[in-house]
Amino acid sequence: MSDSPSQPILPHAPQHVAIIMDGNGRWALKRGLPRLAGHKAGTENLRRIIKACVEFGVRYLTLYAFSTENWGRPKEEVLGLMRILEDVIDHELKELHEQGVQIRHIGKLEQLPAFLQEKVRGALQTTRNNQKLTINIALNYGGRDEIIHAVQQMIRDGVPAESVDSEVVSRYLYTAGVPDPDLIIRTSGELRISNFLIWQAAYSEWYVTPTYWPDFDREEFLRALQEFAQRDRRFGRVKSAEYEGKNG
Ligand code: IPE
Ligand code: IPE
Ligand code: MG
Repeated sequence: MSDSPSQPILPHAPQHVAIIMDGNGRWALKRGLPRLAGHKAGTENLRRIIKACVEFGVRYLTLYAFSTENWGRPKEEVLGLMRILEDVIDHELKELHEQGVQIRHIGKLEQLPAFLQEKVRGALQTTRNNQKLTINIALNYGGRDEIIHAVQQMIRDGVPAESVDSEVVSRYLYTAGVPDPDLIIRTSGELRISNFLIWQAAYSEWYVTPTYWPDFDREEFLRALQEFAQRDRRFGRVKSAEYEGKNG
């Protein structure tokens, strides 16, 4: 398979989609299943959404898999989740690599269990030259942690105060080199950011759906992208048509 970027089939597809994959626990509860069954179903759903990204011409996909606050969950759930993530890498890496997917990690890798660190590092290494789609896995990720980490690193590097601007800060974040998300999707209906990409989301468009993550399918993903295509992104300015009317 070729690694070169393909023509997007949606004319206004967002370049970067970020997803807060929420609602696995409630999906399981509704079926009388343990929460971990929901996490398992959630990771199975990843496969179809990744395929859809390739199909629709999305170039960057950021997935919120585990937050810095999720350590506060019961031990069995945390460890179960880590094992499920390990399984996903074991089972999906080969195909992702063949599809031309590059895996990146955002967050603090060194706090994860050794078995998972090793798997993640292997995935980063294997896929580092792929260019079709870049997937950032936010695993032990927190937006505040990311900013603290960036400030510490800037101080260590002796960056002069007067040279700090938004470009410099962006370069010190875990997402360095990745454009800000155009569209953020949150499943399961919660209307909050939950410490996700708090710097990068400054002008992202939002799509929130009551659908639980394991049920969020290609059709709904396409609806989210189509809705995005209708949005008027102003970035604090006036509509481009109004501007042209007055000045053009
Ligand atoms: C999202 O599903 C996955 C993670 C946070 C790891 P949840 O586990 O938060 O599911 P709900 O919100 O309890 O339904
Ligand atoms: C956000 O979901 C984190 C992930 C999806 C990994 P949470 O379920 O942890 O968020 P809150 O606790 O409802 O804000
Ligand atoms: Mg949740």
